[in-house]
Amino acid sequence: MTDNEKQDMKQQLAQFRRLTWQQRLAVASQLGDLTTIQRQMLADNASEDDALLTENYLTSYHLPEGLAATIRMNGHDYLVPMVTEEPSVIAAASYGGKMAASGDGIVTRTDTNLLMGQIVFQTVTVAEISRFVTPNEAKLLSLANQAHPSIVKYGGGARKLRVRALGEGFVSVDLFVDTGEAMGANIMNSMLEALGHHLQDVLEQHPVMSILANDGQQTLVTAAVNVPVANLAKHNAAVGLTVAKRIVAASQIAQLDVSRATTHNKGIMNGVDAVVMATGNDWRAVEASVHAYAARDGQYRGLSRWQLAGDRLVGSLTMPMHLGVVGGATASLPLAKLNQQILQVRDVATLNQLAVALGLAQNLAALRALVSEGIQQGHMQLQYRNLAVAAGATPEQVPAVVEALKTHAHPSATLAKAIVTKLNQQG
Ligand code: MEV
Repeated sequence: MTDNEKQDMKQQLAQFRRLTWQQRLAVASQLGDLTTIQRQMLADNASEDDALLTENYLTSYHLPEGLAATIRMNGHDYLVPMVTEEPSVIAAASYGGKMAASGDGIVTRTDTNLLMGQIVFQTVTVAEISRFVTPNEAKLLSLANQAHPSIVKYGGGARKLRVRALGEGFVSVDLFVDTGEAMGANIMNSMLEALGHHLQDVLEQHPVMSILANDGQQTLVTAAVNVPVANLAKHNAAVGLTVAKRIVAASQIAQLDVSRATTHNKGIMNGVDAVVMATGNDWRAVEASVHAYAARDGQYRGLSRWQLAGDRLVGSLTMPMHLGVVGGATASLPLAKLNQQILQVRDVATLNQLAVALGLAQNLAALRALVSEGIQQGHMQLQYRNLAVAAGATPEQVPAVVEALKTHAHPSATLAKAIVTKLNQQG
C-alpha cells in the first residue's frame, strides 16, 4: 500500500459504519488482499434481507444443517434439524436417539418457565427497598405489565418480585416474568426499565443497571431415559453390561473432575447448540446459563448422570433452557421458521424439552463411544471427508480421496491435496 492508500484506509476505518456495502467490501478486500473470486464469494453470499439483521454487514456465513433421525420424546418421534459444522455430531445424536428409543424413549419435564431480570441498586439497604417493594408488589407488577401489555393478552406477564442483597452494598430487585412463547429478552428489558424508572423516583436513586438475567435457574428442564444394557453392544448382554458400567463411571468422573466435566458438557452442548441455532435462538444465552448451572454448588460438574438399575442404564439431564418459538431471530430468519415446521413444534415448552432431550441422546452416544471403541473411529471417516473437501475435491472425487486417505497411517491436509492433484491430472 502506498502512503496515500494507507491514509485513505485509515479514514475509511475511522468512519466504517457510514460506508456503503460496496465500500466495506472494497476495504475488506484490500486489507485481506482478496482475489476477484474471493470478492465474488462474499458478494454471492450477501443478501439485502440479512443486511437488515446486523451492522456493518458484509456477507452471510452459512453453516451446514442436517437432521437427527429420530428423537423419541414423551412417546412422539421428532425429526430434529441441527446446525453444526462438526462432523459426527448429527450421526451421534441419531445413534443416541436410537439407543433411547430402544428403551422407553426420553421422558421430559419442565418445572417452571420464568425469565428473571434484575434492577441493581447501590448504597441502599434490602430493608429500605423491601419496605416499598413488598407492600406494593401487585402495583409494581402491573406497572411492569403496562410496559409490554401484549404479553398479558397471550397469558404471560410479570409474576413476582424479590429483593436480594448481593454483597458490598449492592441490592438486586429481581423481577420474574412468564414470557409466553417468546424468549422474552425485549419484553423483560422493557419491563425492567419501566420499573427501574419508578423505583428511581421512589428511592431517589438511579439504578446501576436494569437487565435480564441469563442464569436460567427459573427455567429448568429435565430429560430422563432408560436403555436396556444389552442394546448398548449389539444385543450382547454381557458386553452391554460392561459398557453400561463404564458409562456410569464416566458420569462419576464428570462429577469429580472439572476438566472432564467441561468436555462432558461440551459434548452435550454439541447437540443442544445445534438445535438452538437451527431454531433461531440465542445460543450464547443458553451456553451462559448452562455453564453457570453446572457450577451452581461451587464446582463445575457434568450436567448429566448415569446409573445402573437392574438391566437398565438410566440417565438424566437437568439444565436451564429458555428458548422462544416467536419473536427475535425465530421470526426474522426464514430457515428458523421452516425448521420449526419440520420439527412440528409450535410451543416453547416442547422446544425447550426437545433441546434437552437431544442433549441427553448426544451425551449417551458420546459416552458409549468413549468407553467402547473410542470416538476416533467414527470421527475419522467424516474427518477424511472434510480433508477431501478442504483440499478442493469435487463431490465426485470425495469418495476416492476418502478411500485413499484411509490407506495411509497419517492422513493430512497435504496428503489430501496431493491425492486431489493426482486425480485432476488423471482427468
Ligand atoms: C466432541 O466434540 C465431544 C466429546 O468430546 C464429548 C465427550 O467427551 O463426552 C466426544
